[in-house]
Amino acid sequence: MKKVKIALLGLGNVGRGVWMILNSNKEEIMKRSGYEVEIAKILVRDKNKKRSVEVPDEIITTDFDEILEDDSIKIVVEVMGGMEPSKGYMLRCMDKKKHIVTANKMLIANAGDELFEKADEMGVMFQYEASVAGGIPIIKGINESLTANKIEKLYGIVNGTTNYILSKMELEGADFDDVLKEAQEKGYAEADPTSDIEAFDAQYKLAILASLAFGSKIDVDNIYREGITKIEAVDMKYAKEFKMGIKLLAIAKENNGKIELRVHPTMISKKHPLSNIYDSFNAVFIKGNAVGDLMFYGRGAGDLPTGSAVVGDIVTIVRNGVDAENSNPVVKNNLWKREILSMEDIESKYYVRATVVDEPGVLSKITSILGKNNVSLRSVIQKGDEENGNVTIVLVTHKTNEKELNNSIKEIAELKSVYKINNIIRIEDLE
Ligand code: NAP
Ligand code: HSE
Repeated sequence: MKKVKIALLGLGNVGRGVWMILNSNKEEIMKRSGYEVEIAKILVRDKNKKRSVEVPDEIITTDFDEILEDDSIKIVVEVMGGMEPSKGYMLRCMDKKKHIVTANKMLIANAGDELFEKADEMGVMFQYEASVAGGIPIIKGINESLTANKIEKLYGIVNGTTNYILSKMELEGADFDDVLKEAQEKGYAEADPTSDIEAFDAQYKLAILASLAFGSKIDVDNIYREGITKIEAVDMKYAKEFKMGIKLLAIAKENNGKIELRVHPTMISKKHPLSNIYDSFNAVFIKGNAVGDLMFYGRGAGDLPTGSAVVGDIVTIVRNGVDAENSNPVVKNNLWKREILSMEDIESKYYVRATVVDEPGVLSKITSILGKNNVSLRSVIQKGDEENGNVTIVLVTHKTNEKELNNSIKEIAELKSVYKINNIIRIEDLE
């Protein structure tokens, strides 16, 4: 049996998963790849840290050069996270003709081009399946199995932490902070969970998916982003009344020759399968012009699901000729230039929750502002939950233009009888 030596950069949640899989599924991996995969070195920050997996002391190092200068190490697996030193380490490893596997969406979304170019230049393989949707084979799905299609729409629940939080809020009425803590303990959250709850993580993942789906380089800053921190139990309650669920949805779709790109909490009908994706599960719904509707589903975070995607990438490299001089199937994602639709020009239905003074005529003032701005109402709920002379009203609009909705909200917020606009959530018709 031939042997291939690899190194891990990082032994946190994902690194641990990779270690466990390569040990527990050694036999299967050997038979499937034709190679014995040996982890020769693991780079960490703190050598003395207590680990939840038993790893021989002699392979743990804090010196990156021990990996870089070891010519017997053919594949380097980056599972440290962050921009630097991860990017610099990968570039230097490729200079030494080492193949790369990474789970780092922040890096691929922000500096993928530079890394892919280096892989091209050096004739090495570069795989990043684990960077989006954990264990779901979505990158290979789009890059390999769906190349026959023009992709028209992509809707994704691509962050496990926020889906875990929203699920617990919806199903158990749980408190946001308590559930975030649980998600961190389970190894779903990023080192800085702001990335999850403020939707930066989902924004990176959408940039990666959309660039592959639409064959065009997507600048992360061109993606509208809104996190889940404003969602309250009461919004969940109203969503349920409307037979909808609230999900952090990553949306990419063709709109009159432009692409619409946005990540935000979204109300979706309970009839659509995406609304029933719970826990740390992720799902990506794609509409291709040949294949029609397609949905990928699986665990979006955690040591073993993510490790599964990382080890799959290692096997891909081994099978494609780990020892070959020039083996480089990096997929080009800049085939066309696509214009991005400005957020002001999108159309959506909206849920608006406001606290108003309980006095006659408030509602008519609000509806007249909406009418003046061409925003038509589908329903209005006024709840008798009176508190300090205030009541809650919930408006649901028909499909309307984002700019006109924003203009209306600005005017409504200025009314003396409107105490607060508590929340605005877009409603997506997923058909
Ligand atoms: P993590 O638990 O924080 O682990 C990071 C590891 O990298 C630790 O072992 C740490 O060493 C090491 N490390 C960090 N900076 C280093 C440096 N400068 N030099 C040497 N070692 C360094 O992170 P994770 O959750 O495994 O995530 C790793 C990557 O996978 C990130 O890009 C993340 O976005 C991505 N990802 C994570 C998941 C998930 O479910 N967690 C899923 C998909 C993708 P010490 O242990 O000594 O501190
Ligand atoms: N923090 C990420 C999530 C890890 O919760 O989805 C998987 O990319």
